[in-house]
Amino acid sequence: MAFDLVIKNGEIVTAQGVYRADVGVRGERIAAIGESLQGRREIAAAGKYVTPGAVDVHVHLEMPIGDIASTDDFYTGTRAAAFGGTTTIIDFVEPEPEETLLEALASRRACADDKVVIDYGLHMTLGPAEIPKLDQVAAAYAAGCASFKLYMAYDFRLNDGEMLQALTAVHNTNGLPIVHAENWDVITMLIAENVGNGRTTPHYHPRSRPAKMEGEAAGRIINLAEFVGTRLYVFHVSCGETVDRIATARQRGLPIYGETCPQYLLLDWSLYDRPGVLGALPVCSPPIRAKEEQARLWQALSRNHLQAVSTDHCPFTMAEKERGLGDYSQIPGGVPSIEVRFTAVYSAGVRAGHLSLPQWVDVCCTTPARLFGLPRKGQIAVGYDADLVIFDPEREMHVSPKTLHETAGWTLYEGMTLHGWPEMTISHGQVIVEDGELVVGMGNGRFLRRGFGKM
Ligand code: URP
Ligand code: ZN
Ligand code: ZN
Repeated sequence: MAFDLVIKNGEIVTAQGVYRADVGVRGERIAAIGESLQGRREIAAAGKYVTPGAVDVHVHLEMPIGDIASTDDFYTGTRAAAFGGTTTIIDFVEPEPEETLLEALASRRACADDKVVIDYGLHMTLGPAEIPKLDQVAAAYAAGCASFKLYMAYDFRLNDGEMLQALTAVHNTNGLPIVHAENWDVITMLIAENVGNGRTTPHYHPRSRPAKMEGEAAGRIINLAEFVGTRLYVFHVSCGETVDRIATARQRGLPIYGETCPQYLLLDWSLYDRPGVLGALPVCSPPIRAKEEQARLWQALSRNHLQAVSTDHCPFTMAEKERGLGDYSQIPGGVPSIEVRFTAVYSAGVRAGHLSLPQWVDVCCTTPARLFGLPRKGQIAVGYDADLVIFDPEREMHVSPKTLHETAGWTLYEGMTLHGWPEMTISHGQVIVEDGELVVGMGNGRFLRRGFGKM
């Protein structure tokens, strides 16, 4: 019997290996992998890679900070993701103090549900105002918010006692704690010292957030996680100091995981020395580090000391970044890469010899899906969602904000030539990007209820 869709003769890349075959799709799922499959629609993929749709577990779309919000909303952000081969994202719920966790989830879903063009999930943020609400963690988990973001930095950071309470509550519901690890007391002291002495340019941003102290914070939260007996996922690892803490914990058999992001793999801190607003654009936290750190991060991915690459996509416009030019600590933090991530890791990772093809798919698709409770995503196998990318490894991509679909109006990758680009993106059996066009409308994506099975 003919399939609804067959992708013919592609090089199938999974986290396990690379082989040539046809992929048959029936309805929304992968129904067969084999030879000479026939479909009502057949797509020729000879000479192309067929990969799972990529999974980006760390994005901030329309995220408010004070009177502004990150520039991509749930439509433009998921559209850009789809062009870049990403078919699942996970964003955040950030509860207002007076809201219950379920009310906050409902209002975030009300922002997203009608706009998304790809599937999405949500992490629940637990700040100090949520400590009295920890008895609601089980309800958030039951509603599909199975991972919980805990900050060690910013005004909504948790102190170690609160962290202990939050880790325990999340662990008791079988949820996954995820953490932003930096040492806030050291950062605030260094910022005060720098700004107080007239050192106000973005050059001082990474120098106020030392790699050693990111490692210290990661080590501290790993110790707390071990004490509680919980697993833990460390967001946006920027340096070898943090890798070392995660690797040591993993060597001891602890269930500690970490991700890094394209800005740490491809870029370096000389960007902060560019003139004017150009130096403000790369401000993000943790900061982009010295060039030597890049090799440590690639090596960590290839040795499974880090398990994923996500984007932490959180762009602001040039005008918004410019507001902090007189004091770098006031520059809104965050950078874009939701569209370039999959290609960037292929180009700078696989083509440059740091990662194998299976490792590329593993860190961008398969392991993020597994770690975040998405059992039908991130893999090409019968029964999985037919979220697929036909990737042209020879296409050259001259990166420019004019050709990207991200809306910040700038990209830190401008002027780079990356190799490889998604020729077609498919989301639950439906072609969503083809011939450089998005061919589905807003609301095509779905909210994914995530969970981790029985404890
Ligand atoms: O500077 C950054 N990374 N902004 C986004 C929020 C966060 O800390 O992940
Ligand atoms: Zn963070
Ligand atoms: Zn983030």
